[in-house]
Amino acid sequence: MFKSKQSFFSRRPSLVAIYLGGLVAFLLVSVASTSSQVVASTSSQPMSIANAEYPGGQGTVTQVGGRAFSLPALGITDEQHKAFTVGNSIFRTNWVQAPASVTTLQGLGPLFNTRSCGSCHQQDGRGSPPRSERDEFVGLLLRISVPDAKDPLRMIDVPGYGDQIQSQSILGVPAEGTPRVSYKEITGKFSDGETFTLLSPTYTIENLAYGDLPKNLRISPRLAQQLVGLGLLDTIPEAALLANADPEDRDSNGISGRPNWLGPNGTAPLGRFGWKANKPSVLEQDAAALLGDMGITTPLHKNQECREGQVACQKAFSLKDTEMSMQDLLRLTAYMKLLGVPKRRGFLDPEVLQGEKVFHQIQCNQCHTPSFKTGVDPEFSVLSNQWIFPYTDLLLHDMGQGLADDRPDHQASGREWRTAPLWGIGLVHDVSRHDRLLHDGRARGVKEAILWHDGEAKSAKEEFIKLPKKDREALIKFVNSL
Ligand code: HEC
Ligand code: HEC
Repeated sequence: MFKSKQSFFSRRPSLVAIYLGGLVAFLLVSVASTSSQVVASTSSQPMSIANAEYPGGQGTVTQVGGRAFSLPALGITDEQHKAFTVGNSIFRTNWVQAPASVTTLQGLGPLFNTRSCGSCHQQDGRGSPPRSERDEFVGLLLRISVPDAKDPLRMIDVPGYGDQIQSQSILGVPAEGTPRVSYKEITGKFSDGETFTLLSPTYTIENLAYGDLPKNLRISPRLAQQLVGLGLLDTIPEAALLANADPEDRDSNGISGRPNWLGPNGTAPLGRFGWKANKPSVLEQDAAALLGDMGITTPLHKNQECREGQVACQKAFSLKDTEMSMQDLLRLTAYMKLLGVPKRRGFLDPEVLQGEKVFHQIQCNQCHTPSFKTGVDPEFSVLSNQWIFPYTDLLLHDMGQGLADDRPDHQASGREWRTAPLWGIGLVHDVSRHDRLLHDGRARGVKEAILWHDGEAKSAKEEFIKLPKKDREALIKFVNSL
């Protein structure tokens, strides 16, 4: 019923994308891992789950505060710790333009968004979106594309620009443009009369260096994501994810859930990472980030992406070998896969338990699947056979026109997004010093994030609006305990 067919609401003024407003499983577990108890369970939940306090399984970290997302999973080997440490330093170091007197970490650009992974994913957390029209874009980037003239359902790269606006460049190469955002306030009311305000963003791109952008340009704003537990998500068996898919909505609950198949004509591999599940593995996501966000070539992407007409980019100096070796790419990937999930806080608080009940009652769990058991990671035993609580099905859902970017991405339509994992979400403020949520950071906290839900999540949102204030607050407190 809320079927996610491509929707092309393309009547956009040039360069402007307008986003109009558009347990009852009480997992009562003991702190000690020796005894655990599950009082009740939904049908998709196992009857005996190890311990909900430790959402990342045995590797769960106990750190809270600003470094909560930055620690290695507990129990990794010394060898893995070494790779983690090198990967960590690659992640944080600013790259420089080649040729440079240093021997490593050179080859930045020619076009790029920032100089290090860590400057978007600060403290391994989510990026900080611009708050006003004059704010620079750092942790938020704009993907772009344009419908193919021959087949308007197909998105292609934008002539002269490619698929992402790179707002920075090395000396002598013009940067592509400067993204800007402005927010319009939308107001609404809960059933009990309390009012709320949401921010609806509009994006523009100024200082275009390579000619006008097409009138039917599609813009997809994407905030840098928080990076905990990625190795665990990578290890969930594909069959377990597909078991939750219901593309035809056979159970008629208004919720479909579609896999994003990334191969030609809807074939493997299955997408898991990114806001639209458009990358199949942590390794491929890392290599794509290196090239797209920083202009670093790797054995996976050996050539710079200088587009036609980007003459200075094409002529820029380039090293003989790829700018990052396979060995370093694997260390960076080990770092990304091994960042541990922080343990839950206050999970036995009666209000949190009430909120958990509401979460299931109003069917948030239909997409934010509480738990999975991971399969086997041949390299990292700490990721293998773990009961984890990521609160995502990693599938795509139509979230309505208000959140739509109208820019299909592989099999994801312009209205579909991957269910965002909720683990660690209560620590976003401590780590990133802001509370901005959703794919473009428009929501100020959990309440606003829920209020933007629509499409397949419309009924959950409407139930939320009808809840008594006490239950709304309990639900938010539960989400923030994750
Ligand atoms: C310019 C900002 C920026 C930089 C620099 C950047 N990222 Fe990201 N990162 C993002 C955005 C935006 C997303 C979401 C991408 C999407 O939805 O397609 C993301 C997503 C990811 C993800 C997937 C997370 C998930 O939950 O699915 C990983 C892994 C990642 N980045 C790793 C890296 C690494 C490693 C580097 C450095 C090589 C890096 N990123 C540099 C912005 C950035
Ligand atoms: C139909 C599937 C679906 C249902 C039902 C659903 N969600 Fe979501 N949720 C999503 C998707 C998809 C996103 C990512 C949307 C985006 O970024 O634009 C998301 C994002 C979120 C976020 C922001 C996460 C982040 O990292 O920024 C929160 C918080 C959240 N949901 C909580 C809830 C709660 C609470 C409920 C129940 C009231 C709920 N969701 C119901 C699919 C769903």
